[in-house]
Formats: sequence, structure tokens, C-alpha cells
Amino acid sequence: MSNTLPAPLPVAVVTGGARGIGLAVAQWFLAHGHRVALWDIDGETLRKTEAALADPERVLALRCDVSQPEQVALATEQTAATFGRIDALVNNAGVAVFKPVGQTTFEDWQHVLGTNLNGPFLCTQACAPVMRKTGGGAVVNIASISGLRASTLRVAYGTSKAALIHLTKQHATELGTVGIRVNAIAPGPVETEMAKLVHSVAIRSDYHDVIPLERYGTTEEIANAVGFLCSANASYINGQVLAVDGGFDAAGVGLPTLRKNAER
Ligand SMILES: NC(=O)c1ccc[n+]([C@@H]2O[C@H](COP(=O)([O-])OP(=O)(O)OC[C@H]3O[C@@H](n4cnc5c(N)ncnc54)[C@H](O)[C@@H]3O)[C@@H](O)[C@H]2O)c1
Repeated sequence: MSNTLPAPLPVAVVTGGARGIGLAVAQWFLAHGHRVALWDIDGETLRKTEAALADPERVLALRCDVSQPEQVALATEQTAATFGRIDALVNNAGVAVFKPVGQTTFEDWQHVLGTNLNGPFLCTQACAPVMRKTGGGAVVNIASISGLRASTLRVAYGTSKAALIHLTKQHATELGTVGIRVNAIAPGPVETEMAKLVHSVAIRSDYHDVIPLERYGTTEEIANAVGFLCSANASYINGQVLAVDGGFDAAGVGLPTLRKNAER
């Protein structure tokens, strides 16, 4: 009889995991044999999600505002104490404020940058030492196509996502040397509560027009890409940005007349 204990299940931290893309990412990890810590500012939705997942052995739900250093430190401590390790961190928590430059208040700016940029900085800094103890891991930052190119009304959101893409490269450069790969996903439009909030009917139809696949992405399609980047199949990928956007970034805006003449 062998005395070897079974290997502990790997652990993924997903910020903003109570709903939308974060929840789909958590479900990907659960389906692929991980334990999952969901960190989210929205305690009520988080409790409902925890109950719906109904897997107390493998799911830890923690209320945490990722823009607050003390809350991130506490969530990291609680995750490490409960699960004993962290193998993957998905910096997904994000907020969108779409306003003209002149109407974007300093509070709006701070709120968006605080969540979308300070959050990933703080969470990566807190989780990296825990990852190192078990030989390294992977971080995936959820940026956006709005971070790849500028567009109207996104002075705060677009800037936060462009900065997050650069932060990804900074972290990849330093943390790669200790076995932590850091990559980013730049999703195109995805059907979630956030999209419902900021995409009007007209915006929706414009997106259908300029995306070669002529549709929004699903949360599962984003989760599949995140899961891949965290897996051993991506073991030599570090510091990259993968647009998961139906071809939006590749095609550019293009001319409506020429698009209409495209082969069907
Ligand atoms: N939906 C899209 O079209 C789209 C496109 C590109 C990028 N993204 C990005 O994907 C990520 C997820 O977006 P989504 O569409 O699922 O949005 P969502 O609003 O449905 O979910 C975001 C989650 O993050 C949580 N959150 C917000 N602020 C937080 C904070 N300070 N601390 C902890 N949790 C916080 C919310 O409570 C929510 O559960 C965001 O970073 C967003 O910018 C979304």
C-alpha cells in the first residue's frame, strides 16, 4: 500500500466572480478540476451564486473590494488559509462609465481606475507570493478591445484597460522569472449585465455591423480563452494580449459600403 497523499486540487481566484464573465470563468475552473475563490464587492449576488454552485468543498466566496489594499490582503489570507495554495488569478472585476470627456467627473475617473487598474495591481501583488510557495502559477487580466484602441465616451474605461494591458507586460516581465505567467484577454462585446447597462439598441446594431462574426461573444467563449491561458497548454505564453472579439480588432472599423459588398 502506498502512503502517498493525492495531489491537492489546484486553486483559482476569480475577482468579480459573482456574475457575468467572472462566473463563467469560475465554472470553467470547476469543470476542469479546480477549487475556486470568488472575490466580489456585491455580497448579495455573491451569496446567491455560492448557493447556486452548491459545492462548499470547492467554492469559497469572499466579499472583497479589489480597489482596497486591506480587503485584498484579507481575502488573500483567507483564501490561502482555506485552500493552502493559489495557482491561478483572474483579474476580472471591472466597472464601466461611458461619458464624454467633459462630463467624466474625477470621482468617475477614480472609481474606474481604482477598480480596473488598481485592483489587478493589488491582487497580483498579494497573490504572487502565495503562488511562488507552490512553484508559480498564471495570472490573466480581463482587459477589453477598448484598451486596444480609443473610442468615444471611454476616456476612463479605455484608459484603464490600456493601462491594464501595459501592467500585464510589466508583471509578465518581472514575475516570469519566478514562474508566474501573466497574460491579458481583450474581449469584444459580451452579453452581460455590464453590456446591458452601457450598450443601447443602436450600439448593439453597430457592433453587429463591424464584427466579422456578426454577433456578441458569450461568457463561455471568454472563459475558454482564460482557462487555456491558465493551463499547462499555454506554458510558454507570457506577456501577451489575446483579443477574443469575433475579429473586431483585426478588421478595424472599415467602410460600411465595402462591408455590404462582402461575400455572403
Ligand atoms: N461585457 C462586455 O461586453 C465586456 C467587454 C470587454 C471587457 N469586459 C470586462 O470583463 C470584466 C467582467 O465584465 P462583465 O461584463 O462580466 O461585468 P458584470 O458587471 O456583469 O460583472 C462584474 C463583476 O465585478 C464585480 N465588481 C465590480 N467592482 C468590484 C470591486 N471593486 N471589487 C470586486 N468586485 C467588483 C461586480 O460586483 C460584478 O459581479 C470587466 O473587467 C469588464 O470590463 C466586459
